[in-house]
Amino acid sequence: MITYDEKQQVFHLSTNKISYLIQVEDGGLLAHLYFGKAVQSYHGQFRYPRADRSFSPNPPLAKDRLFSFDTVLQELPGNPGDFRVPALELLHESGSSVSDFRFEDYEIIQGKKSIPGLPATYAMEKEASTLIITLKDQLYDIYLDLFYTVFDNQAVLVRSSRLRNESAETLAIQKLASLSLDFASSSFELVHLSGSWSRERMIQREVVAPGTKALSSRRGSSSHHENPFAALVAPETTEAAGEAYGFSLVYSGNHETTIERDPYEQTRVTMGINSQQFSWSLEAGNDFYTPEAVLVYSDEGLNGMSQSFHYLFQHHLIRGRFKYEPRPVLANNWEATFFDFNEEKIMEIAKEAKELGAELFVLDDGWFGKRDADNSSLGDWYEYEGKLSRGLAQLSKEIHGLGLSFGLWFEPEMISEQSELYKKHPDWAFHVPGREKTIGRGQFVLDFSRADVRETVYQQMKAILDHVQVDYIKWDMNRNMTDVYSVLLKKEQQGETAHRYILGLYEFLERMTTEYPDILFESCSGGGGRFDPGMLYYMPQVWASDNTDAVSRMAIQYGTSLVYPVSTIGAHVAAVPNHQTGRTTSLETRGNVAMSGLFGYELDLTHLSDGEREELKEQTNFYKSHRQLIQYGTYYRLKSPFEGNEVSWQFVAPDQSEALVFYSRVLAEASAPFHVLKLTGLNPEKSYRIKDKVVGGDELMNIGLYIDTEAWGDYASQLIYIEAAD
Ligand code: GLA
Repeated sequence: MITYDEKQQVFHLSTNKISYLIQVEDGGLLAHLYFGKAVQSYHGQFRYPRADRSFSPNPPLAKDRLFSFDTVLQELPGNPGDFRVPALELLHESGSSVSDFRFEDYEIIQGKKSIPGLPATYAMEKEASTLIITLKDQLYDIYLDLFYTVFDNQAVLVRSSRLRNESAETLAIQKLASLSLDFASSSFELVHLSGSWSRERMIQREVVAPGTKALSSRRGSSSHHENPFAALVAPETTEAAGEAYGFSLVYSGNHETTIERDPYEQTRVTMGINSQQFSWSLEAGNDFYTPEAVLVYSDEGLNGMSQSFHYLFQHHLIRGRFKYEPRPVLANNWEATFFDFNEEKIMEIAKEAKELGAELFVLDDGWFGKRDADNSSLGDWYEYEGKLSRGLAQLSKEIHGLGLSFGLWFEPEMISEQSELYKKHPDWAFHVPGREKTIGRGQFVLDFSRADVRETVYQQMKAILDHVQVDYIKWDMNRNMTDVYSVLLKKEQQGETAHRYILGLYEFLERMTTEYPDILFESCSGGGGRFDPGMLYYMPQVWASDNTDAVSRMAIQYGTSLVYPVSTIGAHVAAVPNHQTGRTTSLETRGNVAMSGLFGYELDLTHLSDGEREELKEQTNFYKSHRQLIQYGTYYRLKSPFEGNEVSWQFVAPDQSEALVFYSRVLAEASAPFHVLKLTGLNPEKSYRIKDKVVGGDELMNIGLYIDTEAWGDYASQLIYIEAAD
């Protein structure tokens, strides 16, 4: 619900869980009052206090020295006199970058508008309401429309904005954040997800100290290195209890989140497109939309925050046929063969996969151009003649004949120097004329900001998809961007290139997913280098990491679950010793970890022993009979790999009729304590069957389970299934 109290000039956006209060302050400044747990109605007692703070200037219309933009909480700061991190920086033709936006108008609508050219959450009219506040610059006919949407029954608010240039001049946008949120004095800790290739989304937690902390990517993608997510939590907040504010950006390119604690213990969070190496030339009559930012409030710890993100992404972001579909068990040949395969080998693996219970076979890298190594053929998306003796279409037919669907790997945004495409169009790779290009994984990045480049790649892919029966695409992206310069853009537009690339990518994905609605897309970027809500709008699942080691995966999947639902997290059983870590873990643990996501195999199935084959078959059967619970149940983290030697999480059915618990005690311990695991999310009034016992939900949650791990050895784990007894 959204109301406007004209007398107090206060907007109140609320659901049964949250309230968000905005006030039109003196002189029309759009001030922030509150975001957090719901209040029924706001009576105006909480006006933000004022004080004469030395060296904090007063705006022109201020009635007294107590009012300063420097100390008030704001909605989209950037006006003079606020020395904190601005949400916008606009350069005028005069050379001035001073802006002064004040309240102009507002509108409240049912439902939610889409954002032209950008992925965003969606809702039906009866599910959400939107407030649009328009601000106007005091000197120019430049308008800012701020969009706020709340979703009924959810602890979520999403924000974005549009800048409209109705002046006669060209404006350079140097920064326009999607979100700026100020908090009154409070102690916070910052939680975020940092990492690298094969070590994605490691949970970091640190005190928010005075000064500014920046979390960002300048890699051209959302990156392995810093996910576009941050949370502010109370120092006492745990997984299960306490307050948490989560922020997530629906964007796949360069992003920036700053957390600033000012001298008065106020905290400002700013999130949006990275303003470094960015500028956008906004000509008269044009407008610019920011990506959307998601804000979540939880008073039920980090689990509560995650469940809100999961719900929103599952129901209001992911689209298409597969949104609620049980996701297939897949077998991928990458770690089994790398580039070295032929039809015979592929068919052998596929037959084994079918025997084990897989439903989808994915032919990974190496089927196109003349690709036998990672330094050639990207850009040549036609069949590698002769590599598969009877060709790709026939292979797909044979695989379908086995009763499997068929998937194919593509890396459409890239170009190899050794390729037909590069011979024809060397200038299609990102480059700065006159300079040598940097190379990454032996390849260059195609200039996806260009329509002609996109059209050529699209037509190549279409030719494949129209003659080979393809049910699934793994869309990869295996290097970060350098030499970001587009030869088609004017010099004053070069700062737009990275964002135009992402807009081009989104346009391509929109077209492809519309034209091929029956293809299941899985996003990948050297594993989880582009695991972000922007990609989820087009592709409902992501290969979470190239690291398939079960112990590493516990941390990666645990971290990923902070923001992303289990239905998006690709997790496969691989061979041991593991390719990335050299570690040997049991098939049981590899299975248990992979079964905690979208299950599949990433190993040479033709080399399994009889025992392994049996075990994998059992795992697959078990997974299939519980995948609704795993993929779409409510997910709780119980014990963190970032805090100790035990790791645990739990899936609970929405009606609390069943649950599945993953538990691992990572390293063996001698004379170990008796570990107690308290479950959560069950119905305290219900009885549950666990192994051969029947016990109360409250017993499992309040007293817990003893887990005797004495004789387990390293890297042991188990899955415990619990079902309502009545
Ligand atoms: C990336 C992916 C892998 C595999 C290779 C193929 O690294 O993450 O899963 O597809 O590319 O080159």
